Amino acid sequence: MKIHDYLSDSVNRLTESGIRKVLQNAPPNSINLALGEIPRPLSPLIKNYLNEIIQNEIHNYTQNQGIEELRNLISDCYYDNFSPDEICITVGAEEAIFTVLNSFLNQGDLLLIPDPIFPAYKTIAEFTGAKVVTFALDCTKNFAVNRKQLESVIGKMKIKALLLCNPSNPTSHSLSTEDQEYIVKICREKKILLIVDEIYLSLSFFPIRSFSELGKDIVIISGLSKSFSLTGWRIGWFAAPSEVINKLTRLHQFTVTCAPYISQRLAIKLLQSKKLVDDYFLKNNLNRNQKHSIEFLSGELKYQIPTPDAAPYLFVEIPYDDLNFVQRCKSNGVLVVPGSVFGEMGKNHIRINYGVDFKLLEQGLKRIGEVINSY
Ligand SMILES: Cc1ncc(COP(=O)(O)O)c(C=O)c1O
Repeated sequence: MKIHDYLSDSVNRLTESGIRKVLQNAPPNSINLALGEIPRPLSPLIKNYLNEIIQNEIHNYTQNQGIEELRNLISDCYYDNFSPDEICITVGAEEAIFTVLNSFLNQGDLLLIPDPIFPAYKTIAEFTGAKVVTFALDCTKNFAVNRKQLESVIGKMKIKALLLCNPSNPTSHSLSTEDQEYIVKICREKKILLIVDEIYLSLSFFPIRSFSELGKDIVIISGLSKSFSLTGWRIGWFAAPSEVINKLTRLHQFTVTCAPYISQRLAIKLLQSKKLVDDYFLKNNLNRNQKHSIEFLSGELKYQIPTPDAAPYLFVEIPYDDLNFVQRCKSNGVLVVPGSVFGEMGKNHIRINYGVDFKLLEQGLKRIGEVINSY
């Protein structure tokens, strides 16, 4: 037997991330508009604070669920409906997705997700042995929920859970208030567990309601990676009703024990300090980058690209095969993600992250423009 013959079926089912694949063999000095990060240098205030923690504190394990002060702040800042005891701090939102899906899905259960959507949901759900079913979003209406589509899938199959991302990765569109209410209602009627990933909620240009406001029977996933540009610090969480939070936390405990001490302490400082939040949020820059990207690409593609209500993605329809287009972009020194990575409905689209330095963005867009003009 060779060592790989010993691998479990669940590990063998894991597929390579289509987003990371774009980065492989990229020419040196490629401009990365592919990865979902908003890179920012740490501010001097944060550096000073980190120094204080390093000099003055003992870096032990924290409670499995996370430092109580941090859970209090998350409950205060984000939720009316979840108490600090109903929140568990995780190693990024990715661990929250892993813990939540593994806590609720059995072998053969059906998980429903929209198409297009963040591809990790399918991979992680399939790791648990569950089956993934999709419903197509309406690409003619800014990827809104197509109620007929959704009802037809739910009517035909015994769905156990519905996992949404609001605002969405890859489209950066968010659900209307009516659609939010409709989804909660239909899930209750059909006894489907609703799980919502809200990691991009604070990156919305307009106030959007958290699904948690619609009831206590919804599981929420979120984190600071995107809204605070802190992908490397790995601070996420899930919020779940008190009846189940201990069970979910147990799985988290046996996976990672707790989120890193220093990251949790930094998160406390960030959430305490409105000034730091504003420094970090940089919505004005994101707004300017979004406007510039839409204007530029609409000009090159000769149609008006719709404006999504959140940052940092544009999910742009292109009149070419997306895999071929992305390959040409790569050869021309700019990295973007092919839409088909996010599902069938993503074909003939590319996802662009415009949340990068403005000068880099300008250069990257110029290179995309050259590719469009090469067809
Ligand atoms: C929708 C969504 N959820 C979760 C994550 C993972 O976030 P984190 O870096 O906090 O693990 C991402 C990262 O791209 C994401 O797009």
